[in-house]
Amino acid sequence: MSELLELYEQIRTCTKCDLAKGRTNAVPGEGPANAEIMFIGEAPGFHEDREGRPFVGAAGKYLDELLASIGMQRENVYICNVIKCRPPQNRDPLPEEMEACRPYLDRQIELINPRVILTISRFAMARWFPDKKISEIHGKPKRIGNRVIVPMYHPAAALHQPSLKRVLEEDFKRVPQILKEMAHLQEEEESKPAPVAQQMSLF
Ligand code: URA
Repeated sequence: MSELLELYEQIRTCTKCDLAKGRTNAVPGEGPANAEIMFIGEAPGFHEDREGRPFVGAAGKYLDELLASIGMQRENVYICNVIKCRPPQNRDPLPEEMEACRPYLDRQIELINPRVILTISRFAMARWFPDKKISEIHGKPKRIGNRVIVPMYHPAAALHQPSLKRVLEEDFKRVPQILKEMAHLQEEEESKPAPVAQQMSLF
C-alpha cells in the first residue's frame, strides 16, 4: 500500500479524540499524491461526514467554481482539512482535537510536498500565522521554507458575505501567477545553488 493510502487508513480508523464517536466517516482528504497545490480547510461538515470526502457541500461547490474561474480543476489539486472528523453541530474544533489530528496533517504535507498551500480556514492559517488577522494577510503569499503559504478567506464565509466573496475571487485570480513564480523559482534553485527567493517579486 502507498504511504498515502496507509495514512488514510490510519485516519479512517483513528480513535485519538472523541470526535471518532460521532462520525459517520473520517475525511482524510483527496487529490493527486504529486499535487502542486494544497487547500487546507477547517473540518468536515454534514455532507463531508456522510461521504467521507472533503468540500462536497455548498462551500465545496463554490470552491469548484473558484478553481474553474482560474482554469483549474478539483482533480488536479489536493484538498484536506485541519481536523478529519466532523465536530458536533459544526462547532469550532477544540485545541485537543487539533492537537490529536496534527500529525495527520503534518504527514499529508510531508507526503504531498506541495509547492503552494492555500489555507482556507482560520485554523489552517493559524498554523503558519498564529498572530495575524485574515483581513490583513488574505491573498498575500509568504514563502516559508521551500513552499509558499497563501491565507484565503473560507469559501463558506464568502458565501454568507457578498463583500468577502469579491475579495476571495480577487485573491484567487492571483493564484496562477503565484504558481508560475514558484515553478520558476524551483527551476532557478535547481539550476544554481545560490538562493534566488529575494529576486522574486511576489514573496
Ligand atoms: N468546510 C471545511 O472547512 N471543510 C470541508 O471539508 C467542508 C466545509
